[in-house]
Amino acid sequence: MKIVVLAGGTSTEREISIVSGSKVCEALRSKGHQAVLVDVFCGREDTDVDTIFTDPFDLEKEVAYMSSFNDQITKIQKERKSFFGPKVLELCNAADVVFLALHGACGEDGRVQATFDLMGIPYTGSGYLGSALAMDKSITKQLFMENGVPTPKGIILHKKDVQKSAKELGFTFPCVVKTACGGSSVGVYIVKTEEEFAQALKNGFSYEDKLVVEEYVKGREFSIGVVNGKAYPIIEIAPIVGFYDYKNKYQAGSTIETCPAELSEELTRKMQRIAEMGYQVLRLENYARLDFMMDESHNMYCLEANTLPGMTPTSLLPQEAEVLGMSFADLCDKLISVSLE
Ligand code: DAL
Ligand code: MG
Repeated sequence: MKIVVLAGGTSTEREISIVSGSKVCEALRSKGHQAVLVDVFCGREDTDVDTIFTDPFDLEKEVAYMSSFNDQITKIQKERKSFFGPKVLELCNAADVVFLALHGACGEDGRVQATFDLMGIPYTGSGYLGSALAMDKSITKQLFMENGVPTPKGIILHKKDVQKSAKELGFTFPCVVKTACGGSSVGVYIVKTEEEFAQALKNGFSYEDKLVVEEYVKGREFSIGVVNGKAYPIIEIAPIVGFYDYKNKYQAGSTIETCPAELSEELTRKMQRIAEMGYQVLRLENYARLDFMMDESHNMYCLEANTLPGMTPTSLLPQEAEVLGMSFADLCDKLISVSLE
């Protein structure tokens, strides 16, 4: 198949996306597909399109090449308004399918999906509606609460609320402040005092206009991939220090990941059922990964859904697939086939 792997973009998760995209591209080539990696970054629009590819595939060269663009992001983001332009669309149009390896704003929030729907371009993952609902943690929380998917109690704050204290909002410490549409824990703060709360609101609002404040769940952390509506084996995530923040997510050796998680059959089934329910409630399609906490009394809380989860061979969903006997390349192939069904 002719496959365009879209990666990069302009979100706070740009660099992670480049790694996901490079690895997916490499895996798809190993399966005999004609795959090309395209960095969806408007800065590319005035470069010669041939320079986007490194052929034969050379991962290091490709990542180094892409990284050289990072410095220009802020400048170009300010100057231009388009996420991608005609050259990228032309390439996607010529492919049999576009593998979305984008993370975060624009790529994961339904806008690219809606554009592709209008153009009749097949792509992997959820459609525009599920992507948009799951991207916004405040909407996710409302839908979860209304539909019986257990989630920590929380509220939405807007910029006008920046002076509010945790006490007047009815929260005790510790509590969690996070940006509504962030990813990879950028803009997530676990706060223990009013001073930290005030600082978290200030920092959070520097990223986004909308924040979520929620009760902190003390306990074990898990994640579950759902492919075609069915939950994969559960993975437990245990950071050695602190919580599963950006550093613990991406620095090798900083987190112990166990799959399948050490949970009784009953608890495993229960958490998997909640994951499948969350997936349905958010109108997700093809695949996603949902994140969980479980307290000492075995109460489970679904925190959020990631519609384009990290896709490097050591990412969480690929580890779950491995337990099912699927290699990383098999999983990439599978995600394409379920999306094209
Ligand atoms: N947002 C990151 C990529 C993840 O959920 O894996
Ligand atoms: Mg996320």
